[in-house]
Amino acid sequence: MIKAIYPGSFDPITFGHIDIIRRGLEVFDQIVIAVAHNIEKEGLFSVEERKNLIREALKDLNRVSVDSFEGLLVNYVEKTQGNVIIRGLRATSDFEYEFHMASINRHLNNRFDTFFMMTAKDYFFVSSRTIKEVAMLGGSVKGLVPENVENALKSKFRALTR
Ligand code: PNS
Repeated sequence: MIKAIYPGSFDPITFGHIDIIRRGLEVFDQIVIAVAHNIEKEGLFSVEERKNLIREALKDLNRVSVDSFEGLLVNYVEKTQGNVIIRGLRATSDFEYEFHMASINRHLNNRFDTFFMMTAKDYFFVSSRTIKEVAMLGGSVKGLVPENVENALKSKFRALTR
């Protein structure tokens, strides 16, 4: 039984993330999506809102659960008895950051490894940051995020500009 932890900000979840989750399910028995409480960046959506958006978007998938964590990722993986960490890689520009993160995580706890999956070609330009910017400026994010996320972005920016 291999339990993979897929950590991230997921502010909000995109089809790029979902593609990694779907493909990850072909390799791992169980995937836990772990939303990080990030003390450095305040998100557009609260952690609870992000978790609800993920749950709604993935309600048809079995073997996936949604959780959140504070503090070090490696401590969370240990505590929840995860076996591996998975991360998506979009482009070479992601590599350095991911390499550092995987290396420090292994330095902190060498019991588990990080597995990288290349993002599908249709989503390599999709990031939560650009999705938020496009949505904020009134552009369409259709086809890049699930419909519930599209609607949530619209209402969030409507509320913020009121
Ligand atoms: O989606 P993101 O923002 O690229 O995800 C980054 C995340 C949340 C996986 C990373 O910042 C993280 O693991 N944070 C938890 C704190 C931690 O363990 N830091 C040490 C490794 S950098």
